[in-house]
Amino acid sequence: MAQCNGCLKDNVDGFCSSCETILFDRSKVSPQLKFNWEDISKRIDGQPMGFSISGVQRKGFIGKPRGIEMVPKMDLDEKSQYIIKPMLSGFNLPEQSPANEHITMQLAKQLFGIKIAECAFVKFANGTPAYITRRFDYDAKGEKLNQEDFASVLQAAHKYNSKTYQDVGEWLSPLNRVDFLRILIFNFLTGNGDVHLKNISLLETTDGDMMLSPTYDLMNTKIHVKDNLLALNLFKELEQTSLPLGEKYSYKSEDFIEFGKRLKIRETNIKKIIDSFNGNEGEVLAMVDKSFLSNDAKNLYKTNVVENYKLFRQTSQKKPH
Ligand SMILES: Nc1ncnc2c1ncn2[C@@H]1O[C@H](COP(=O)(O)OP(=O)(O)O)[C@@H](O)[C@H]1O
Ligand SMILES: [Mg+2]
Ligand SMILES: [Zn+2]
Repeated sequence: MAQCNGCLKDNVDGFCSSCETILFDRSKVSPQLKFNWEDISKRIDGQPMGFSISGVQRKGFIGKPRGIEMVPKMDLDEKSQYIIKPMLSGFNLPEQSPANEHITMQLAKQLFGIKIAECAFVKFANGTPAYITRRFDYDAKGEKLNQEDFASVLQAAHKYNSKTYQDVGEWLSPLNRVDFLRILIFNFLTGNGDVHLKNISLLETTDGDMMLSPTYDLMNTKIHVKDNLLALNLFKELEQTSLPLGEKYSYKSEDFIEFGKRLKIRETNIKKIIDSFNGNEGEVLAMVDKSFLSNDAKNLYKTNVVENYKLFRQTSQKKPH
């Protein structure tokens, strides 16, 4: 027996019972799908605008599992409970992308308490890997919840073009600011250079408030592309400066401390967050070893995490702020 396809717990065949609850409302579901990506993409081609969900990667919808089976779904009148992402089409090690996204999401949830879109690693009928995530934009009664990404939130609020994480943070409630700081440090340490404004969203709560949605689209992009350390600047004033490429978006823990202060997070809370990241490097590496990545991809992932931690722990002579 291997690891749970959801949480990576040892000695589980398929999904453990707690993942069955979280992902499938207690149904027994096999991570071995009965259909292929082509069965979904054929339908997508039939309805070119079938996507209400944007993003760069290919993706499809699947419906509620009937017994052990998940079914492809392109009929938009019926709601889809899951989004499925096949492997990347291009880039380095494309077949590793589902396992990369899966382990990165699980690291965020299990080691750093980040609220994520629940997810799993599965296989198509022909054995190729895929990533599935349970949609968070429906409530328990099946009603659609409003979701708005920060490309559109900030579009309305800011006349100027360039946006930074500080602009996003200033929009958030005090509680969400703490979550956001954690998310940004996590992305820096796990090599995610793809956290642009479309990958951060607000989601309507049952009370009708707009709060930070569960986190989605986390992965170590360095496995697949040569990428910046982060996708955006932390600080507003850096948007005007042109740093050499190697230094672009390279931050240390003290920058994240400054970021937290600007968002008016209490210093004791900021320190706790920084400490929790510093104390968990070994656990991150150990969990990557348990992932569904190939050995080569595990090594790339771990090497990158170690490098990022080194940058994070650096102390600087010059004080930019
Ligand atoms: N679990 C989910 N529930 C609801 N919406 C989601 C979920 N995961 C992603 N999305 C939405 O779908 C869009 C595309 O998904 P994403 O994982 O970001 O794909 P890509 O890798 O192509 O950017 C996101 O911008 C987000 O709005
Ligand atoms: Mg995305
Ligand atoms: Zn599990």
